[in-house]
Amino acid sequence: MDDADEATLAELASALADAETAVALTGAGISAPSGVPTFRGEDGVWGNEFDPEDFRIGRLRRDPAGFWRDRVDLHDRLFPDSVEPNSAHEALASLEAAGRLEAVVTQNTDGFHAAAGSETVLELHGNAARVACVDCGATRPAEPVHERVRTAIEAGDGEALPPTCPDCGGLVKPDVVLFGESLPRSTFQRAQAFAADSDVFLAIGSSLEVEPAASLPRQAAAGGTLAIVNLASTRADGRADIRLRADVTDVLPALAARLDAD
Ligand code: APR
Ligand code: ZN
Repeated sequence: MDDADEATLAELASALADAETAVALTGAGISAPSGVPTFRGEDGVWGNEFDPEDFRIGRLRRDPAGFWRDRVDLHDRLFPDSVEPNSAHEALASLEAAGRLEAVVTQNTDGFHAAAGSETVLELHGNAARVACVDCGATRPAEPVHERVRTAIEAGDGEALPPTCPDCGGLVKPDVVLFGESLPRSTFQRAQAFAADSDVFLAIGSSLEVEPAASLPRQAAAGGTLAIVNLASTRADGRADIRLRADVTDVLPALAARLDAD
């Protein structure tokens, strides 16, 4: 970070030090340093490697076998075996432990915030480590399902696709919010309450392109300090009181250190 960033970081640290209720909203950019590709931007997966249209709920219903072939490819691209939380996730967990952060609201489905030690984590878009039955709602670990799909594809065994629910025979989906689905209502309402209560709201590693998650910084900006930490510009930049165009793994550990939360 350059001197201007250092000065902005000091401003953010002091806002957090005075805050009653600080809340963070995170996006794919916080996991990018872990090796998880982002969705947008020049090396984002959407448009370069995958078409988001292939991952709509309508496609799952229309062509479940084709959906699952593409879904396992996307999952394996997003979450290669070795990926794990990075120092930015750990910094948010230590800020929470030090009483400087109330909650992390995340659009990510990688489970990295909880894995890094954050306790109050709201997963707006679900969690890719689980699958859910569209009929009975039963959830179970995703990996055995991914394995069955990979085996069926390798064996050319179309009969084994799509994966179905062992309890009721229903269609199984990734336990994430697919395009065309609405967010889990209670989780989003809790996130809105945190945003409305916050006197500092940090939007971290997100292009803030996808609603309704992108509405949270707007709600927060009404009453408090909105800080945006993101390498690229975002739609909410005009509303931001504090803006850091820097890497999350530079900013967040430095912020935690300034607040003696490291
Ligand atoms: N440090 C800071 N910012 C970074 C870093 C980094 N190391 N790496 C990438 N970024 C920024 C990029 O500049 C980009 O603006 O992270 C942002 C990620 O934006 P997106 O890829 O659009 O991800 P996100 O905002 O989380 O997308 C929201 O869209 O496709 C859906 O469901 C998916 O949850 C996802 C939602
Ligand atoms: Zn079922």
